[in-house]
Order: sequence, then C-alpha cells, then structure tokens
Amino acid sequence: MAQEDIFKKIIAHSKEYGFIFQSSEIYDGLSAVYDYGQIGVELKNNIKQYWWDAMTKLNENIVGIDAAIFMHPRTWEASGHVGAFNDPLIDNKDSKKRYRADVLIEEHMEKIEAKIQKEVDKASARFGDTFDEKQFRDTNQRVQENQLKLDELKARFVKALEANDLADLKQIIEDSGIVCPVSGSKNWTDVRQFNLMFSTQLGSVSEEASTIYLRPETAQGIFVNYLNVQKTGRMKIPFGIAQIGKAFRNEIVARQFIFRMREFEQMEMQFFVEPGTEMEWYKHWKEKRLKWHKSLGLGEEKYRFHDHDKLAHYANAAADIEFDFPMGFREVEGIHSRTDFDLGNHEKFSGRKIQYHDTVTNKSYVPYVVETSIGLDRMFLSVISNAYTEEEIEGKDETRIVMRIPAFLAPVKLAVFPLLKKDGLPEKAREIMDRLKFDFNCQYEEKDTIGRRYRRQDAIGTPFCITIDHQTQEDNTVTIRFRDTMKQERVPVENLEKIMEDKVSMKNVLREL
Ligand code: GAP
Repeated sequence: MAQEDIFKKIIAHSKEYGFIFQSSEIYDGLSAVYDYGQIGVELKNNIKQYWWDAMTKLNENIVGIDAAIFMHPRTWEASGHVGAFNDPLIDNKDSKKRYRADVLIEEHMEKIEAKIQKEVDKASARFGDTFDEKQFRDTNQRVQENQLKLDELKARFVKALEANDLADLKQIIEDSGIVCPVSGSKNWTDVRQFNLMFSTQLGSVSEEASTIYLRPETAQGIFVNYLNVQKTGRMKIPFGIAQIGKAFRNEIVARQFIFRMREFEQMEMQFFVEPGTEMEWYKHWKEKRLKWHKSLGLGEEKYRFHDHDKLAHYANAAADIEFDFPMGFREVEGIHSRTDFDLGNHEKFSGRKIQYHDTVTNKSYVPYVVETSIGLDRMFLSVISNAYTEEEIEGKDETRIVMRIPAFLAPVKLAVFPLLKKDGLPEKAREIMDRLKFDFNCQYEEKDTIGRRYRRQDAIGTPFCITIDHQTQEDNTVTIRFRDTMKQERVPVENLEKIMEDKVSMKNVLREL
C-alpha cells in the first residue's frame, strides 16, 4: 500500500476510534489544530508519564516545573524570537499558494538524494553480496554528477540561510527549476520573512494593554526560572529542569496531520553545565535520548540522527532524532547545545545577575545549556503510525485492524467481558473489574459477540482481554486473550494483578534505561 494511503487510513482510524479529532469540527474545523479524544488522551498521558519519569525519577539531578504560557514580552526579545523566529515565505502567483522557501528547496534536495539512492539500490540488487557501496558511489558517473549538484546546492542554501539572504533563496528556487506543486508554474513572488509567534493583548483598557505572545517554545519558562529552581532546590551544576507544556506557532506549511500543528505540546529539558563541558554533555544527551526512543520497542531501525547544517540563532551544535514516519524520516526530537545564549541575554535584558557560584573553585559563571526538546504530538504520531496494522486472520476469511501499541503505553490496558449477559457472569466480571481498575485502565463490555468485542479492543490497542465464562464460576479461572497473537490462556483470577503488572508495567521499561 502506498505510504500516502497508509497515512490517510491512520487519520481516519484515529477519528473513528476516539484518538484524535479535528478541532471545532462542527464548524468545519480549524486548520492545523487537533483535539485528543477519549482514547488518544490516555495514550498521550502515558507518553508524557514515560518521559517525565525517565527524566525526573531516573536522574537525581533533574527536577520538573510547570511555567505559565504567558510570559513578560521582554522574554521574547531576549530569546531572539521577536527578531529571528521567522520563516522565509514565497507565494506562487498563479496558484496563490504560499510556501516556505526553505522547505521547497529541502524537498528538491530530497528528490536528488532519492535519485542517488535509486541508483545505489539498483546496483546493490544487481551485484548482491559482492556490492561495494562506497566504491560505487565514488565511481558511478550519474551518482557523482548528482552528488556534486547536491553538495553545491546544499552549500549555497546553508550560506543563504545563514546570511538571511532572501534574494538568493529565491534565486536558488529559480535556478533549480522548482515548480509550484499545484499550478506547475515557476511564477514566484519575492521571498519575505514571516514571524511565527502568535500575539495577543494583556490588559482590559486598550490604551494600556501590552502585546504579549503565546510561547513558541516551553524552554524560556525554564530559563527565566533558572535562579528560582537552582536556589530553592539547592541544585548543583550539572543539573536539569524538565517541563511539559503547550507551545504555539503560526505555521504556514501546516500539514501532515498532527506532525506540524499551530498549537502543540513539547517535553523539554534544559541541562545546565559548566562552560567548556557542553560538548561532552551534548554527546551524552544525544545517546541517552536515542536510547529512550529505542526502549519503546518500535524498531531500532526506525530512528536516525540528523546533524544540523544550519544552526538556530542560539546553538553551537544541534542534531535531530528522526523517526521513520509513513511519509519518511522526519524530526521527532531536537538536541541542542544552546551555549549561554539564553541565560546571558536574560541577564542583559532583565538587569538581574543570572550566574552560578561554584563553591569548590570559587568561580561564578553563566551556565551553558544542553537542551533536549521533543514534540509530544510527533511522539504520539510515531507510536500510532507504527502500531497501525491490517492483517488477515489465519483460517478465516476476515481481516482485522490492530493497533500494536507497546503494552505499557496502551490507552486501555485490559478489557473485561462476561461471555453472556446472564447466569451471574456480568456480576462476576464487574467484581473482577472493580478490583483491577485501581491499577490498570480497564474497559467493561458486554454488548455484541465476543469476536466483535475483541475487534473493538484490537482497534484501540488493548493488549489483553479477559473473559468470564461458566467455568469461572466453577474454578475461579478466566481466559486472557493476547492482542498480538490472538492466543488465549486460562489463569486463576487471583493471579490477574501479578500477570498484568508484569506485562504492562512502565517500571519494567524504565528499569532498562
Ligand atoms: N526549544 C527548542 C525548540 O523548540 P524545535 O526544534 O523548534 O526546538 C522541538 O522544536 C520539537 O518540537 C521538534 O522536534 C518537534 O518534535 C516539535 N515541534 C516543533 N514545531 C512543531 C509543530 N508545529 N507541531 C508539532 N510539533 C512541533
């Protein structure tokens, strides 16, 4: 099935089963804004908890905060967002469609890369085990020509971005022959900058009201609280502050479902270190974060690093962890070495001394920062797009849709079914459910055939279904049916808590980190 079709199916499935709804759908929706439904919110909360516990419980030197979304407007001048948080935009005069100039060029470069990869794959299939990829790349004329074109384009693109040279960005689009995907024409406007922050007014009297922004990243809430936390928590460098919260960006190219939204959620951690040690910590956090992702069990080959060619205004090193989404490898998390850019600027703009005093060396300094910043919604998308599976049921002329969500993240951990709605089976099922519901998110279902109930639970990713039948009344045993294998096992009721705990506990996964 084409990747695009899979993506469409995931979006439709998300709506049908209460994972994600378009915001304000009854008014035809609000573009690039989504709501999490009754099943989605459980999965989202589990992802949050896994991240939060991995940061704050497993690291004695990381603590959490929850800062407000509104901040003093000077914050965003100090952080550089008022001046530099811009996207270069270009319009096609024929289709009237607006694009990010950098995205158009990046997509063009991806096409050249794909051409090279196609040659390599073809040769690899032809030569089999004897294929030497490096030698092929170094000697094949077509690959060499395309590689040279790509390298030159990349260098020119990075230079134009770094110099904020909007005229050259337009020239690159023209020189590369990039056409509008809608009109197919090369009739472009000039490129201009567009600030991504949403603004609003604080204060009731319009003359006195001041413009404030909806935060475009949660990180600044951490920076402005650095002194508060360091002093009240008696934190010693190196230490970290973690936070989960909403961020807002007026994205122009807002598409691909919850991948790029205007209102989204970030899980960020700022790690404060001594200047000069930041590269060591940068490496440390790159590895640690990749391990966290891999621990979810979605497949090690689904992740890769992408080191940035162009650094954000605050960074001296940056890399993305990319996940293999249905539309290809895309960023899910960024790890940035932010130097003392933020704290240094907040010191300047606020006039407050924001320093750390090292009592051992008796030196004071503005700490450097290594940041890990992950998009919660993108994490969510990686989990559901990886989980979505359509499969034939062996021996039956039937297919099922099953969400193979890692058991410890599953929205509903177990479903409890009485086989029939009579003979005291519902009462027994309720009794079992009433015991288990304090530890696990359970659903009780008695409507429809058992087969249909299994399908509904498969579709929301419930890893275990427990059925109470007549034998339960005789020997106090129930069947557990496993989502992934569809196998069933008979177990004593008194063992249920222990069995469930072993299979769905987040603790077991955290222990492996
Ligand atoms: N504090 C650093 C920062 O905000 P970023 O690379 O702009 O860095 C971090 O964003 C992460 O936030 C990204 O890796 C991505 O997962 C998520 N993110 C950014 N913009 C987003 C958007 N419009 N919609 C959904 N997630 C987004």
